[in-house]
Amino acid sequence: MRLRVLNLLLCTGLLGMAAEPAPPAIATLHSRMEEARKAGDPVKLLAVAEALNERVEPIHLEALFNLAAANAKLGNRPEAYAWLQRAVDAGFWDVDAIREGEAFKDLRGEPRFKALARLAWTKGYLAMLERKERAAFQKPDQIMASLAFKPGERVADVGAGSGYFTIPIAKAVGPTGTVLAVDINPDMLDYVDKRAQAEKLANIKLLRSRPEDPMLPPGGADTILLVDVLHYVKDRTPFAAKLKAGLAPGGRIVVIDYIPKPMSERPWGPSVDQQFSRATMDREMAAAGLKPVRVFEYLTEQWFAVYGAE
Ligand SMILES: C[S@@+](CC[C@H](N)C(=O)[O-])C[C@H]1O[C@@H](n2cnc3c(N)ncnc32)[C@H](O)[C@@H]1O
Repeated sequence: MRLRVLNLLLCTGLLGMAAEPAPPAIATLHSRMEEARKAGDPVKLLAVAEALNERVEPIHLEALFNLAAANAKLGNRPEAYAWLQRAVDAGFWDVDAIREGEAFKDLRGEPRFKALARLAWTKGYLAMLERKERAAFQKPDQIMASLAFKPGERVADVGAGSGYFTIPIAKAVGPTGTVLAVDINPDMLDYVDKRAQAEKLANIKLLRSRPEDPMLPPGGADTILLVDVLHYVKDRTPFAAKLKAGLAPGGRIVVIDYIPKPMSERPWGPSVDQQFSRATMDREMAAAGLKPVRVFEYLTEQWFAVYGAE
């Protein structure tokens, strides 16, 4: 498990060869936190508590997971499930460790175990989509400004995921506009729904689609947005034709996807097999009767093109 490898590297000092000073020990951080609390200094308390949490959290998660694993191994099913639930709720999202862990071999086939593994995957995926660092390369504010959504606009966000774009678009199009959040994964739609309710956005509708069909109402969308979605679609030309059928007259299809790069250059994001260039997209869109009408060049990891009917 990655956590264990990291601990090993830390313990053996293999990661400590750089000039970085060793972080303060947990006990030191704990006493500093107590001092800050007693001194009634909330700024210091926040900083020290954050530092302490950063040190303790991975160890805590690993302990919760191992409590589940040990109980599973001992045949203590209720305890194993209770600890695994706690681990996942607290942020243990290493799905491979859960699904493949030898300790869980007798539980693996049970619906409750499968549901917990799925929950861990979903939480990890949502956290990946919503990670703070994403904004640095994704530039959501600049994308929103480039697309200049208008009040009353009808938008379909196909492959909406966590609602990273659905929510700001719903605010931009206002109560007279709509955003149809489309996804093949119902867990993503549940999450978007919760966010819409929390933000009191009544203009977000949800649609569970199929991998080969976005299932859009015919001619109903002024804008169809697909951010980091089409690399999942196996046969994009028929998919593009279905997108076109969902466009209102004069509507646009906006596609943002990863610039092909080898894993040595970008060890994250879609695999090399999944990546495709804008030139490929242009050809596939042309086969569906769509042409690029605008291209934005400011994203460093992705290409960004707007298509309209020919
Ligand atoms: C990488 S996420 C991107 C989410 C969102 N667009 C964003 O920029 O944060 C891809 C999403 O597309 C969904 N997806 C994958 N294939 C799809 C398909 N064929 N049709 C609709 N959604 C799909 C996945 O379930 C996932 O939620």
